Amino acid sequence: MKVLSITSECAPLVKTGGLADVAGALPAALAGRGVQMQTLIPGYPAVMAALSDAAIIEDYDDLFGAPARLLAGQAAGLDLLVIDAPHLFRRDGNPYLGPDGRDWPDNPERFAALSWVGAKIGARGAGGWQPQVLHGHDWQAGLVTEYLHQTEGAKPHTVLTIHNVSFTGPVDPGRLHDLRLDPSRFHSEGYEFWGAISALKAGLMGADRLTTVSPRYAEELMTPEFGMGLDGVMRHRRDSLVGILNGIDQDVWAPATDPLIFGYDTPEGKEANKAALRDELGLPESDGPLCVIVSRMTHQKGLDMVLQALPTLLEGGGQLALLGSGDADLQDAFAKAALGPGVAVRIGYDEAFSHRMIAGGDAILVPSRFEPCGLTQLYGLRYGTIPLVALTGGLADTVINASPAALARGVATGVQFSPINTDTLRHALTRLCALYADRRTWRQMQMNAMNQPVGWDQSASAYADLYRQLVVAE
Ligand code: ADP
Ligand code: GLC
Repeated sequence: MKVLSITSECAPLVKTGGLADVAGALPAALAGRGVQMQTLIPGYPAVMAALSDAAIIEDYDDLFGAPARLLAGQAAGLDLLVIDAPHLFRRDGNPYLGPDGRDWPDNPERFAALSWVGAKIGARGAGGWQPQVLHGHDWQAGLVTEYLHQTEGAKPHTVLTIHNVSFTGPVDPGRLHDLRLDPSRFHSEGYEFWGAISALKAGLMGADRLTTVSPRYAEELMTPEFGMGLDGVMRHRRDSLVGILNGIDQDVWAPATDPLIFGYDTPEGKEANKAALRDELGLPESDGPLCVIVSRMTHQKGLDMVLQALPTLLEGGGQLALLGSGDADLQDAFAKAALGPGVAVRIGYDEAFSHRMIAGGDAILVPSRFEPCGLTQLYGLRYGTIPLVALTGGLADTVINASPAALARGVATGVQFSPINTDTLRHALTRLCALYADRRTWRQMQMNAMNQPVGWDQSASAYADLYRQLVVAE
């Protein structure tokens, strides 16, 4: 089975969030399941620099403004097809934002180009390799199905994975011709969304199958509360939508062998990491749990609620350490909070430090307003770092709340709160401090967490089955 993954980011080459982790881990997870996956990715400088054994397999005279080439090669153990288009992708830093922190103005063309090349490969193959399924990720790959309609050749099956429905890729309809879209399809059954062109809507309407990254988020997407205006579309496509939980890369996130920490395979091994983290952050000893957060700082992640609930944690003897970057207001507010005792804040993006935080923390907070899957609570589970999470999306599907019943059965792995607001978060923090004080229960939860499967096994099989169903149904 040959599948082309079409993605705007892919770890470890270029990453702004969990999408990169998923795109980076899936090919290896699928390899043992009879799926040969190649990954189509823009030729950002980091990708071009990492690419080895590159061969030119296609030339495009005009890829949205200038000539470009398609290269095939390897990087970081991945089989890549890379769009070498300097006019679109030779820009350092964040793949979506310019140095001013704003979206690049030509993002519509840049990711239209990604989708357009994906469709061409789908129709004509690449260097003799013909994918049977095109599997795109998020709005950046949403236009694949539009371009496939326009292209003569093979008609591969299409899958679109929704990692986050809040990015719809809206574009003024005046740009329709620039984006090489068929005007006759600019309507509500096509790629029109609230009067704009929407790459995500195009993919949601056009792909044979839709997936999202947890079963719970698949349900939530069909509700007005979480659908971000696309809930009607999601209900319309209900029969084609499935939630497949993300896994984590268990080679990278493995407390016993992680070279970035003091390795451990029982909860006691966290102590050395906690002491080192305290030293690093200048946090004194305390009676309560050291809570960590590793996160993009946006409204989605609910960090404003953490600021409001912070006194409750500190009164319970707890502490807070945050690593993150994002909205300037949130960054400033956390920097201010760090002036007080018991709080340490690092603004920035630091992969190695994120390992030390997760190994050294007692608990990890993920109070998101919505969370399609979430990966950091999974890292927390694997590292015996108890997740305190909002009851939503993948956070609901991956954490077993320390309810009286779960505690009685000895199966709890974390703390969940609902409805999602500051009061319930405060209450959850109080519960967390009480659980932490009960050393036997806490250790049991840590053991449960560390033993919970969080790898790709089940989910990779689910993707492989999905591809197979499509191809067999031909
Ligand atoms: P999202 O994709 O919505 O940001 P996820 O939890 O799925 O949320 O994935 C976030 C990924 O990015 C995780 O791998 C997390 O460790 C990483 N991450 C987020 N912020 C930082 C940061 N400041 N430094 C290092 N890693 C980070
Ligand atoms: C998105 C979501 C996150 C998910 C990630 C990977 O960025 O916000 O919940 O884990 O994609 O699927």
